[in-house]
Amino acid sequence: MILPIYIYGHPVLRADNAVVTPDYPGLHELIENMKETMYKTQGIGIAAPQVGVNARIVYIDVDVLAEDFPELKGVNMVLINPEITIDETVPGVTREEGCLSVPGIHENVQRIEKIHLRWQDEQFELHEQDIEGYLARVVQHECDHLEKTLFIDRISPIRKQLIRSKLNNMVKGKVSCDYRCKFAPARRKK
Ligand code: NI
Repeated sequence: MILPIYIYGHPVLRADNAVVTPDYPGLHELIENMKETMYKTQGIGIAAPQVGVNARIVYIDVDVLAEDFPELKGVNMVLINPEITIDETVPGVTREEGCLSVPGIHENVQRIEKIHLRWQDEQFELHEQDIEGYLARVVQHECDHLEKTLFIDRISPIRKQLIRSKLNNMVKGKVSCDYRCKFAPARRKK
């Protein structure tokens, strides 16, 4: 089932996300719905709060980027309760990011593209892996959602100022978007 994407300004994106246990109700259905929603909206990653569920679940599929980043061919992963350690010894890299929850906005974000990731898969088996490059960025972007953080929280104050009116409109539901959206309830426009 394709779920609506919760948009900047909706409180669900700024709420705490619960650790997921094997008895989490409807877990596998939720993951399937997240996948379906992400492919439909042409995202490369999605976090549960973006579909209105405050749980520590992320799905990533970066295969579409394989033309620019051959190492990403066929790479997809379900991350349950992911934990990231960033390698602070290497310099940050600046690249443009976007987000299904912040439609129409793309901004440069500096991140260290070298991490150690620990996570559980759908069967709750523990995994860990060193990840570098673009995938390390995508993982951080998605895991940020689990910490109530959006990529626009990581841009320069000047850039933030420049997109302020677009963000204010987004909170009011005034944004064009080619997928189903859920806006902040109090100020929902339609
Ligand atoms: Ni995002």
